[in-house]
Amino acid sequence: MPEKIIVFDTTLRDGEQAPGASLNLREKLEVAHQLAILNVDVIEGGFPIASPDDFEAVKAISAEVKGPRIAGLARALDKDIEKAAQALEKAALSRIHVFLATSPIHMKYKLKKAEDEILRMAVEGVRKARKYVDDVEFSPEDASRTEPTFLAKVVEAVIEAGAGTVNIPDTVGYAFPEEFGSLILYLKEHVKNIAKAIISVHCHNDLGLAVANSLSAVRNGARQVECTVNGIGERAGNASLEEIVMTIKTRKDLFKGIETKINTQQIIKTSRLVSNLTGMVVQPNKAIVGENAFAHESGIHQDGMLKERTTYEIMSPEEVGLSSSNLVLGKHSGRHAFRERLKQLGFNLGSEELDRLFEKFKILADKKKVVYDEDLVALAEDELAQVPEIFQLEYLHISSGNTTVPTATVRLKKEKDILEDAACGDGPVDAAYNTIDRITGMKGKLMDYSLRAITSGKDAQGEVVVKVQIDSRVVTGKGTSTDVIEASARAYLNAINRVLYIKEKKDVKGV
Ligand code: KIV
Ligand code: ZN
Repeated sequence: MPEKIIVFDTTLRDGEQAPGASLNLREKLEVAHQLAILNVDVIEGGFPIASPDDFEAVKAISAEVKGPRIAGLARALDKDIEKAAQALEKAALSRIHVFLATSPIHMKYKLKKAEDEILRMAVEGVRKARKYVDDVEFSPEDASRTEPTFLAKVVEAVIEAGAGTVNIPDTVGYAFPEEFGSLILYLKEHVKNIAKAIISVHCHNDLGLAVANSLSAVRNGARQVECTVNGIGERAGNASLEEIVMTIKTRKDLFKGIETKINTQQIIKTSRLVSNLTGMVVQPNKAIVGENAFAHESGIHQDGMLKERTTYEIMSPEEVGLSSSNLVLGKHSGRHAFRERLKQLGFNLGSEELDRLFEKFKILADKKKVVYDEDLVALAEDELAQVPEIFQLEYLHISSGNTTVPTATVRLKKEKDILEDAACGDGPVDAAYNTIDRITGMKGKLMDYSLRAITSGKDAQGEVVVKVQIDSRVVTGKGTSTDVIEASARAYLNAINRVLYIKEKKDVKGV
């Protein structure tokens, strides 16, 4: 029987700590459901004491998402552990993840505590968590910069106190693969009761070594990896789930008798969902999930590929869920074929969602000669990621050129009201945004703007992602269209709708 590597996904906790990546409750649930389909073993849903939103997310994921174990993070403090236990109450399988820093630098400057006290707090934290759940994980934060002898002492004590998993974090991404692998080996050799626990690793990517360090640890005995989809996370991010999983799968010669139970064909879908919802665009040359990861440009490579795929491909695109078919549907396709194709792509939509999407598909099929799978995925993800369209774009006219002042005329619909205005700007996008500000009465400050083609060809769909500050809140908005100005306006309006939606929800809750 192959040995299993436990995949502990922390996209919704450490991943969501990435600057600007925050998700609302509905979005977190959507990601958690997809992680269950991907078949991760553990979903770390959040840090319940950190905010009411985190608490609600862990609570809702625990109640709704079946399959993976649900984990909640807690410092080694009673109030954190109690809050985590409360959030996890409804989970079929739960875990409290207790952490406490053990490195000299963290103990001296951050915690202002000596080794004895840290050891006592770690043990008490684990004992307290065990009162609520059978499954407790302990992380000595900044383990890679901790004195190995003290680290071994802490690990032994927390296992004795009831931790079933000991996670060794490279919190600041400082470790080097051989060194980190040796640290795991050191713990295996110096911690008497190590066989009673699973050794886990949690690597950050500050030097671009998070995946290499995680894999080196696996080769030296770690049996759980903590990672995030697309490698998102604090600063330079966390170890990327897809890279770890596909390396173990592709290099079986180096990982003999070891496998994960990830459904690799769901990797692309999961990656796109996370990218869409967080607004964190995946770089084109990103391993496994980047747009170019399976693209061959040079003539020599194309020639090799046509003769024998394995000349230039070490994995097949199908393994990670990329469809090999290019052309799928056109404007003459019917609703039935449309629904079937969406199903094959992993989208099981309700009939109302399907009706709305089919309308959008028809409009797109009129503009484009062919509609590719990527177009459908973009449409479906757009639909699923939507916040209610409080303001809807009805009409957009731009007058622009190198001798005229760019002017936009915009018509929006709000419930039954039709609102129209015009304004100028420094360019067509600025003019459209100024007009939207006038109509909605909101004043958005554009913090970031990115445009990319999400499908291929001259008639490709453009996707615009904006980060906008409205009042004191920074939100992400996304819009797609074959017209980049329209995509820009839709993205901006999506951000405004998001702010109004958040405000509306808060007003209802009386927050
Ligand atoms: O990076 C880190 O050390 C963490 C711990 C909470 C596991 O995220
Ligand atoms: Zn971390």
